[in-house]
Amino acid sequence: MIPTAATIRKLWEVNFLPPYKQNHCVVVAKLSTWFGRQLMELYPDVSVDLPLLEAAALLHDIDKAAPKNPNERHPDAAVRILRDNGLGEISDLVRTHALHAILDQSTAPQTLEQKLLYLSDKMVKHSIITVDERFALWRSEGLPERALKELDAAYPKVKALEKEICSRIHIEPGKIAELPTLLNRVQ
Ligand SMILES: [Fe+2]
Repeated sequence: MIPTAATIRKLWEVNFLPPYKQNHCVVVAKLSTWFGRQLMELYPDVSVDLPLLEAAALLHDIDKAAPKNPNERHPDAAVRILRDNGLGEISDLVRTHALHAILDQSTAPQTLEQKLLYLSDKMVKHSIITVDERFALWRSEGLPERALKELDAAYPKVKALEKEICSRIHIEPGKIAELPTLLNRVQ
């Protein structure tokens, strides 16, 4: 089931998603669906479920400020919240988007929609940036040891995914934010 815009907004509200995170989700939705459209235009045999991808992007960080159960980390609570709301298909995309998900075969993004959500999330802070810029921002945050180890382990895999998608659509990652079709900031 694809939720309506009103349902998405309600879910943001009841789960206390802060406005800057809502903005992040909107930009991730814009970028991920742009990737999807580019791939479908260039490769007629490729199909991307754009409405599903867009809804998953808008909801991927739904647990950022929501109360978590013991042993839950991001995005475990998001998956639970989405399933509880009858959004199981969306939770399947959200389940594989967290930075550390790419480190484990059982949670690494596999489908094109999962890959596009994962990559787009790593190319957006408040606006579209590159994977390298996103990792540099994380490194400047004074993360705990465990998170730094995950960051180092994930980096080559995220770069490989960035290369896989960007080379298929013949664009340099650093050029994407400058594209006139992609508004870099949401007004
Ligand atoms: Fe995110």
